[in-house]
Amino acid sequence: MTALLQVENLVRRYTLPRPRLFAAAPMLTVLHGIDLQMPRGGSLGIVGESGSGKSTLARTVLALDRPQAGRVVLDGNDLFALSRPELRAARRHIQAVFQDPYGSLDPRLRVGRIVAEPVAALEPGAGTAARRERVAAILNAVGLPGHAAERYPHEFSGGQRQRIAIARALITRPALVVADEPVSALDVSVQAQVLALMRDLQASFGLAWLFISHDLSVVRGITAQVAVLYRGRIVEQGATAEVFARPMHPYTRALIDAVPRIGRPRALPPPPPAEAALRGCAYAARCPQRQARCLTEPPALSAGDHAAACHFPL
Ligand SMILES: Nc1ncnc2c1ncn2[C@@H]1O[C@H](COP(=O)(O)OP(=O)(O)OP(=O)(O)O)[C@@H](O)[C@H]1O
Ligand code: SF4
Ligand SMILES: [Mg+2]
Repeated sequence: MTALLQVENLVRRYTLPRPRLFAAAPMLTVLHGIDLQMPRGGSLGIVGESGSGKSTLARTVLALDRPQAGRVVLDGNDLFALSRPELRAARRHIQAVFQDPYGSLDPRLRVGRIVAEPVAALEPGAGTAARRERVAAILNAVGLPGHAAERYPHEFSGGQRQRIAIARALITRPALVVADEPVSALDVSVQAQVLALMRDLQASFGLAWLFISHDLSVVRGITAQVAVLYRGRIVEQGATAEVFARPMHPYTRALIDAVPRIGRPRALPPPPPAEAALRGCAYAARCPQRQARCLTEPPALSAGDHAAACHFPL
C-alpha cells in the first residue's frame, strides 16, 4: 500500500541579503534533506524549537514554497511535478490550519463565505445551495452554531475562530491537514478543547494530521507518531509514546527536560552561533554526550521504527 504522504530528501535554502554590494549572497540551509512518511488516517507531530524549520517544512509540504531538492508525494502525486490545474485539483486533498486565529480569517467576510471559500476555489461546479448545506454541516461538526455562518470573525473568541479555520480546512474533505502551531495562540483551557475536537475529527473524517508544534505536551496528546527536528534535520522519530518514554537522542531528552514544570521552569541553552564549518553532528556544540567522533562524522538516522541520528544514543 502506498503512503498518503511521502516526503523525500527535502532541501530548502534561503538566499540572505548580500553583506556588501558585490559580495556573493549567503545561503541559509533550513531543511537538510528531510524524509517523512504518513499513512492514510495517521497523525504525525513535528516538534522542535523556534527556527528549526517547522514552518518551512509545513509550507513546502503544502506546496506553498518550492524546495531546491526533494519530492513531496501526496497520494502518489509528486506535487512539484504537477501542472497548475493538476496542483489545484490536488489541493482539495491537502489543507492547512495556521497559528493565528485572528489574522487568518478575513474580517470583512461572513463566516459562511470564509468557510465556503475552498469549495468556491477548488470545486467551481458546486452550486450555491449545496455549498450552503456543506457549510452548515461542517460548522456543526466543529461545534459551532448554525447561525455562525451569518456572523463576522470578530464576533467569535480565539478558540471559536480556530474552529472556523478548521471548518474551512475540512470542507473539501481533505485526506491530509497540515496544522502549524494551531493552538499556540490559545489559552491552555481552550487549547484542550480544540485538541479534543481535532482528535475527534481525525476519526470521524478519516483524515490525517501533520501537526506542528514547539510544545511537546500538545504533540504528545494528539499524534501517534512524532519526528523531532533540530536545525533542519530529523534527529529522532518513532511512536510518540515510545519517543517520550525512552528518548534516544540527547536533544529530545533536553526538550523533554525543558518542558516547564510548576516551580521548576528550565530553558535550553542557546544554540551555537554558526554552522558554517560544521562537519560532524549539528547538535555537538550543545551535547553533553559529545565525543571526538561527533565533531568529524555526521550521524545518520538509524533504521527501525524508533530511530535517532546519534553516534551515542541514550
Ligand atoms: N523567507 C525567508 N528568508 C530567509 N530566511 C528564512 C525565511 N523563512 C524562514 N527563514 C529562516 O529559516 C529558519 C527556519 O524558520 P521556520 O519559520 O521554518 O522555523 P520554525 O521552526 O517554524 O520556527 P518557529 O517555532 O519560531 O515558528 C529560521 O532561521 C528563519 O529565520
Ligand atoms: S552524535 Fe554525538 S554530539 Fe551528536 S547528539 Fe549524538 S552524542 Fe551528541
Ligand atoms: Mg513556525
